[in-house]
Amino acid sequence: MLKVAIAGATGYTGAELMRLLAQHPNVEIVCVTSEQSSGVLLATRLPFLKGFSDLTLEKFDADRVAEGADFIFSALSHTKAMKPVSHLINAGKKVVDLSADYRLQSVQAYEKWYSAPHQEKALLKKAVYGLPEIYRKKIAKASLIANPGCYPTGALLPLYPFLKSGEVDTTREIIIDAKSGVSGAGRAPTDATHFPEVNEGLVPYDVGTHRHIPEIEQEIAVFEAKIIFTPYLLPINRGILTTIYLPLKRKMTQDQLEEVLYEYSSEFFIRLMDHPPNVRDVRGSNFCDIAVFATSGGRTAIVISAIDNLVKGAAGQAIHNMNIMMGWDEHTGLTAPPIFP
Ligand SMILES: NC(=O)c1ccc[n+]([C@@H]2O[C@H](COP(=O)([O-])OP(=O)(O)OC[C@H]3O[C@@H](n4cnc5c(N)ncnc54)[C@H](OP(=O)(O)O)[C@@H]3O)[C@@H](O)[C@H]2O)c1
Repeated sequence: MLKVAIAGATGYTGAELMRLLAQHPNVEIVCVTSEQSSGVLLATRLPFLKGFSDLTLEKFDADRVAEGADFIFSALSHTKAMKPVSHLINAGKKVVDLSADYRLQSVQAYEKWYSAPHQEKALLKKAVYGLPEIYRKKIAKASLIANPGCYPTGALLPLYPFLKSGEVDTTREIIIDAKSGVSGAGRAPTDATHFPEVNEGLVPYDVGTHRHIPEIEQEIAVFEAKIIFTPYLLPINRGILTTIYLPLKRKMTQDQLEEVLYEYSSEFFIRLMDHPPNVRDVRGSNFCDIAVFATSGGRTAIVISAIDNLVKGAAGQAIHNMNIMMGWDEHTGLTAPPIFP
């Protein structure tokens, strides 16, 4: 059994890691950390885990974590993960970092978008961007995975095959509209995420300035494509629905567009749909549902994806990365169907 630690186990992604890893046959969770609740039973902070975990939360101590665990998921906030992750890598451990601290390869971009100095620049070169469908070969050899952000996952997976196909008109901007459930903002309540403020509403935020813009741009830089990205807060717990307006070089029929997506036909976690995806159909699962639609003019396609931000957009993708890093069957522990209704 692989001895695993979760740093930041009381947050939403830490909790989701606990839920999913409870069904993983090759993993034993040996350590869970929290700053505010050290000394408290994890199942007290996360009552849904009663009967599944008798672990007590500890303050994060890199030496202690490294002593007990061989593989660590860091579910800490950005800027807070940088140092702990570096300590663990230096101790020879394998780490999947769910924060943004090792996602941007450009130090200038990180410091501009996250308003903080990057203190572990050398380690950035070691980090592999953990989008398994695109980078599985690099992931297999990596010791540090920068797990992608939730919006970038929902946008990049549908974008890649089209950009690779050469059919996208990169002189025009790709417009990406993405609606996220409130758990995307983390567990600590704020004015903007408090129930009465969110319920019955639908509001864009960080318009033109969201931190996931440079991450998406970095990953499609090789295609020289430009994006406009607007995120919205959707009054549901989980899920991201992404609508992409894709400029094409030529008129394309529905069949031609669908053929581009066949590249994913052997990917278990990508489901090609013939109707618009619904976030409800991926809840609790590691699936990314994708559909493409031709428009009457033919020079713009509409591509839509649905993911669960806490699973394919965070904890599920992190476990998928672990499976690849460990040389296990990629799907281990992740094959349960979505929750319905
Ligand atoms: N939520 C999503 O959908 C999503 C998706 C993809 C990626 N991510 C990323 O994943 C990371 C975790 O997100 P989340 O939504 O799970 O956040 P969260 O709910 O706010 O949880 C953050 C965790 O970090 C711990 N923590 C807070 N301050 C700390 C510090 N100074 N030192 C050590 N631990 C500290 C918290 O523990 P205590 O409060 O108990 O001390 C908690 O366990 C973030 O970097 C986020 O950007 C989130």
